[in-house]
Amino acid sequence: MSDFKKQVWELMVKNRRSCHGYQYTLPSPHSYPYQWFWDSCFHAIILCHFNTLDAKKELLSLVSKQFENGMIPHMIYWQKEPKTNFPVVEWGKKDTSAITQPPMLAFAVWQIYQKDRDKGFVEKIYPSLVKLYHYFLSERDPHNNHIASMINPDESGEDNSPRFDIQLNLPPKHTLGENYKRRLKLVAANKQCAFDAPFCMKNFFWVKDVPMNAILIENLKIMEEIASVIGNKVDAAYYLDRSKKFKQAMRDFMLEDGIFYSVYLDPKKNQYQKIKVKTWAAFAPLFAQILTKKEADYVIREYLLNKKHFAAPFMVPTVSCSEPSFDPEGFWRGPVWISINWFIVKGLKKYGYDKLAKKIAENSLALVEKSGFREHFNPLTGEGLGVRQFTWGGLILDM
Ligand code: GLC
Repeated sequence: MSDFKKQVWELMVKNRRSCHGYQYTLPSPHSYPYQWFWDSCFHAIILCHFNTLDAKKELLSLVSKQFENGMIPHMIYWQKEPKTNFPVVEWGKKDTSAITQPPMLAFAVWQIYQKDRDKGFVEKIYPSLVKLYHYFLSERDPHNNHIASMINPDESGEDNSPRFDIQLNLPPKHTLGENYKRRLKLVAANKQCAFDAPFCMKNFFWVKDVPMNAILIENLKIMEEIASVIGNKVDAAYYLDRSKKFKQAMRDFMLEDGIFYSVYLDPKKNQYQKIKVKTWAAFAPLFAQILTKKEADYVIREYLLNKKHFAAPFMVPTVSCSEPSFDPEGFWRGPVWISINWFIVKGLKKYGYDKLAKKIAENSLALVEKSGFREHFNPLTGEGLGVRQFTWGGLILDM
């Protein structure tokens, strides 16, 4: 085992917790002392590089808190960690939040199945998968437009990304505190209607985000494969059909001049408006092969490899260096995050950009070797930022 792999294993074991017979991993014990939805999917992907048993446990604890309507909450408060002061948010729930995160569950299940071919596990978790994707396809797309919406920026996993500034009524430059306040206000408003998603979207915040939808599409494609493995041809055909429809809708509503933008519904005009902020979202469609080869070549050449935009000394900044909102230390407003590099690397490989993917993977490793398992990194200096003992660096094993 390489030294790096050993370090990842030590970190995953250090951050591991058990409660009520369930096992899960904290993203960072000091600062993120609970279980998070997409983090746990990342954890399962990382754990597959060691054993599938722990990866399965990570996902089973997650789905144990799935809501009746199929939603998986983005946070599960299993137990309180000593010496942490994670902010208390009033969700109106006993032990979970009331919003979700990008639905990476099918991807994580598929990764496990690729390793051990354990059909029994797939069959066991399948009903939870069906409920989850049904939730996204119905509650988050109540008018059958084939694009899923969010009810809070935190659902993207990129809490304060500038993609959400317009809807939060914030200028390109503002503090994290101001941003957080707006998001909390949204939570309070959503609580009034018990987080009824169609109502919340219509009345408070309606962003259809590029990465969220690209991730959903890739997972729907995987659902086709999973359904086929367990011999459910009807479901397999259904998921394939949905993935195609969602892909077409993304192309119809989000693509302009070779780049995908998140959109929001303008109630006055009753039509989608593109949010013209250049973030890594431009590359998220590569992950689900939503772009043609020609379109991929274009966005990679003009944006990813362009110093003006994303070819920073340490790649890949989450926001284009050309944006007025770009801040190399600004949480989701510029720094490199390893999970985002992972999505980009996966996407690049699908289009034959193996050399570039390798370069980004090596660059990611260099960042962690230089600054440790930090939460994010300054794209101009490579300096480590945010919390420590953060698990996402483990995704480098999967690049
Ligand atoms: C931060 C990140 C989010 C992540 C959580 C736990 O809120 O923005 O994506 O899930 O921390 O790591």
